[in-house]
Amino acid sequence: MVAGRARIGFVIETGRLVLRPPRAEEAADALELLGDPDVARWNPAPSVVDLDSAAAWSRRGADWSAGDHATFSVLDAATGAYLGVVSLHSIDPVQHDAEIGYRVTPRARGRGVATEAVTAATAWAFANLALVRIELAHAVDNPPSCAVALRAGYPLEGVLRQSFVYGDGRRYDEHLHARLAGDPPPGRPAAGPAPGSQAAGDADVGAGGV
Ligand SMILES: CC(C)(COP(=O)(O)OP(=O)(O)OC[C@H]1O[C@@H](n2cnc3c(N)ncnc32)[C@H](O)[C@@H]1OP(=O)(O)O)[C@@H](O)C(=O)NCCC(=O)NCCS
Repeated sequence: MVAGRARIGFVIETGRLVLRPPRAEEAADALELLGDPDVARWNPAPSVVDLDSAAAWSRRGADWSAGDHATFSVLDAATGAYLGVVSLHSIDPVQHDAEIGYRVTPRARGRGVATEAVTAATAWAFANLALVRIELAHAVDNPPSCAVALRAGYPLEGVLRQSFVYGDGRRYDEHLHARLAGDPPPGRPAAGPAPGSQAAGDADVGAGGV
């Protein structure tokens, strides 16, 4: 499905960020990202241990031919600096759903990079992959990821008990968030504002400049 709709080389631009498929030349950046203790903890146990395996990881991210994922490196639009990765994965063309994951390199955190990248990749996925639902799961013990989910327009749906083994080998409870194609833009209330309220006139505020 992905291969038919969006070729390798697809680029998303938000103004501040550029999202495009990974490149093997980014191996050193990918190795730094995946070696970060927080990234290693809050993701499955890493297969990347050196530059060669990092280059192979990037090449897998760039190969969308199976149609089951659409992975983007996230770059600073002004400098080209590597900031992280966001990936639509587990794309199911029968159910028209997918999951999304994200990682930001430590020096780029706390500036809204993950929120902006997830918002942009989500809008792209709904526009290009015929999805109706995207799920986002994170460990309950990972509050920064929860903040990203909520700000990118993924409301919390519930708690998945002991649902995933993370990088430290322990099994964690997770928050399940999801966004539907028809949900209001991030920042807009899911239910309509009370008639006559101030929010009724602010409906587009919070779309995030993406
Ligand atoms: C989670 C992660 C992607 C966030 O990236 P980021 O670019 O810093 O995220 P943003 O700047 O868009 O938003 C982070 C928000 O979390 C908040 N936050 C940071 N640390 C927090 C904490 N300990 N508790 C609660 N909130 C926290 C920040 O304040 C920010 O919100 P604010 O801007 O309103 O203050 C990044 O920290 C990361 O890569 N972590 C390791 C890998 C990971 O956890 N990936 C997600 C797996 S599900």
